[in-house]
Amino acid sequence: MAAKVTVIGSINMDLIAEAERFPRKGETLLGGDFHTIPGGKGANQAVAAAKLGAEVTMVGCVGDDTFGQPLIAHLKEQGIFNVNVEPVTHFPTGVAQITVAEQDNTIIVVPGANNQVTPEVVRQNEKAIQESDILLLQFEIPLESVEEAVNLANKHNTTVVLNPAPMQSVSLGLLEKVDFLTPNEHELTELLDTEEKKQFYEQHRGKFFVTQGSNGVQFVEGDQETLVPSYKVEVKDTTGAGDTFNGGFSVALAEGKSFSEACRFGNAAAALSVSQFGAQTGMPNREDVLRLLDKESD
Ligand code: RIB
Ligand code: NA
Repeated sequence: MAAKVTVIGSINMDLIAEAERFPRKGETLLGGDFHTIPGGKGANQAVAAAKLGAEVTMVGCVGDDTFGQPLIAHLKEQGIFNVNVEPVTHFPTGVAQITVAEQDNTIIVVPGANNQVTPEVVRQNEKAIQESDILLLQFEIPLESVEEAVNLANKHNTTVVLNPAPMQSVSLGLLEKVDFLTPNEHELTELLDTEEKKQFYEQHRGKFFVTQGSNGVQFVEGDQETLVPSYKVEVKDTTGAGDTFNGGFSVALAEGKSFSEACRFGNAAAALSVSQFGAQTGMPNREDVLRLLDKESD
């Protein structure tokens, strides 16, 4: 039986300009190609998990505008089992303005309809949370909705993976209720903004899986610190690499794999994604990932 993953999170249209370099403040720069590609950390992680073999429920909101319906249709095409997304009126679909340059990116997210994923919307999806192995969350919907989702998952013993991106200041209480956190190094520093939280981190290192881009993923088991190294790949576009890791990591955890296997699986998926352009357009399927893992063990 496929692992069940519910994602409650953002759905954006990514508006991407390619350029030779990043513009300076106040500068107008001539770009290269322009792309309009489905994105949003929630949707990206849901698509990654579906392509990597999970039965996924996606809960979110889009606007009743030109981007909304195509994004819903796209989620269904990508094999999301249950797309629980209705267009809301009076709010625009979330967009991300992305610049891809110098083998890196910058992103401005304008949440729009994603802010309509209210605690009430979360409560309407209690059954999906209850029936899932993993609830996967990010910070592109209101924090109070993330908190509501975590509370419901705790109530039903569903494991919570929280990807704290983009960073929002959270309470210590939320960190306590979450099973696993997957910040990158910057997000980890920002997350631990009080002495109390720093202390919590030291005492609960096992909850934290810190993604370090081209270096890999670091985690602690018992008193053993492990770095699962990244693959050396040709980088075309790193957009969505973190999301692919989170999707893959969650699928493997839901399947009962060990932490290190789950990290390796997510890591291999992320590596394959950066060699392709776009977030969702570059995501590998399960066979691609297993082939890469196989090659590594030869
Ligand atoms: O993580 C990448 C994603 O961040 C993009 O798809 C964009 O929509 C923003 O949410
Ligand atoms: Na990519």
